[in-house]
Amino acid sequence: MTKSPYGELSNQGASTNIAWHHTSVDRQSLAERRGHRSAILWFTGLSGSGKSTLANAVNSALFERGLACYVLDGDNIRHGLCKDLGFSDADREENIRRIGEVSKLFLDAGVVVLTAFVSPFRADRDRARALVAEGDFIEIHCAADLGVCEQRDTKGLYAKARAGEIKEFTGISSPYEAPEQPELSIATGSQNLEECVAQVISHLVAKGIIPA
Ligand code: ADX
Repeated sequence: MTKSPYGELSNQGASTNIAWHHTSVDRQSLAERRGHRSAILWFTGLSGSGKSTLANAVNSALFERGLACYVLDGDNIRHGLCKDLGFSDADREENIRRIGEVSKLFLDAGVVVLTAFVSPFRADRDRARALVAEGDFIEIHCAADLGVCEQRDTKGLYAKARAGEIKEFTGISSPYEAPEQPELSIATGSQNLEECVAQVISHLVAKGIIPA
């Protein structure tokens, strides 16, 4: 048996005297059996920038190829796992911390996990990145301008934010820190969906995560 990365018994946060159990099927075996590696595809961008649309379209393309994949979507996760959280800076930090940890579990499960969260703060995204090895975390900036997102206003939230009915709304009354060196920056404001999907898929092929 391989040694625990944390020692025999360890203390983590509020948990004391806990032991690390190794899984009986590791990532390598899963990758060999399934014919592809796992990875975290971390989509970030303003509300209405196309994160969920692109993540779901990439997910469908992966599914069609017979690969193990799953989408974690901000709006959906806030109906369950994160329903105790609002949109203060601290709550967004906790939201992204949980999603980082959940994504890491999917990575261990051999799945290509696609996360679609505004994740406006660079430090929070970097903490999620730091949970996994280099190459496992692929940050994808859905780089549609605020003007485009506001004009689309698919959920009517920008109008509400402008009217002061929603506080701390990203891009209006709460900041969005764009990634400085994302693995991919996709022009979701100007390219069509097919082009955006193709860009993500060719990156995954180029990095040897999925077969050509
Ligand atoms: S995050 O900032 O913590 O990453 P998350 O992606 O989970 O946000 O949720 C964002 C979604 O919640 C938006 O797409 C939008 O539909 C909704 N929403 C409601 N209030 C806000 C707000 N104040 N700021 C941003 N999004 C909001």
